[in-house]
Amino acid sequence: MALADYMAHKPVLTTDRLTLRQLRPSDLPALKEWMPDKAMYQYWGKPAGKTDKNPQLLFEKAEKRTKSLHWAIALKEEDKVIGEAWIYLIEKNRMAKMALRIAPAYQGKGYATEAAKAVIDFCFTHTELQRLWTDVDVRNIPSWKVLEKCGFTREGLIRQGKMVNTWCDYYIYGLLKTDIRKDGALPRILD
Ligand SMILES: CC(C)(COP(=O)(O)OP(=O)(O)OC[C@H]1O[C@@H](n2cnc3c(N)ncnc32)[C@H](O)[C@@H]1OP(=O)(O)O)[C@@H](O)C(=O)NCCC(=O)NCCS
Repeated sequence: MALADYMAHKPVLTTDRLTLRQLRPSDLPALKEWMPDKAMYQYWGKPAGKTDKNPQLLFEKAEKRTKSLHWAIALKEEDKVIGEAWIYLIEKNRMAKMALRIAPAYQGKGYATEAAKAVIDFCFTHTELQRLWTDVDVRNIPSWKVLEKCGFTREGLIRQGKMVNTWCDYYIYGLLKTDIRKDGALPRILD
């Protein structure tokens, strides 16, 4: 299958502790626990939107076909949604932006890194994507730590630029398919 097929038939990804899948109405109580939490939006580039504040809205609209991939990140054992991952701003099926968020109560346990590695592996193994990138507020240390644990290279610093909808100093991180070692392991970053 190609990237376009996966946009129509969203893939489910599994890791040791997580399932990355589509959202379901039964996820609503879990989403309400963390989606409206202001702490989630400190370095998100924009404040909580309408659906972030009221996740019920996610299930009230007819599902639209999007030119992106989105996964709910669920704990495998409890099937509880604790975060989300996106592959979006897809350019010519060759380059895309990656974003992740994990509920505050579950941060610092390696879940974002585990989910990101599954997404990266999927993108480079099953789609035509050659480059993943993202921008990160320099103060968002957990976020750039996750990227570096996944092998991303810090490609540059933008001073007082526009990151999504806010002005801040931010890093650009990128990962190429060719950065991944031949044995399938993600590249190690030297400190
Ligand atoms: C960024 C985010 C996804 C990380 O999720 P997470 O599940 O906590 O990430 P992990 O546990 O996999 O890794 C976080 C790393 O940051 C480290 N870290 C966290 N806070 C830190 C701090 N203040 N200083 C230094 N390191 C810190 C953790 O120790 C861990 O590194 P380690 O494995 O070497 O110990 C999560 O914080 C989040 O959702 N933030 C809000 C949304 C957001 O800003 N998303 C990023 C923009 S796309």
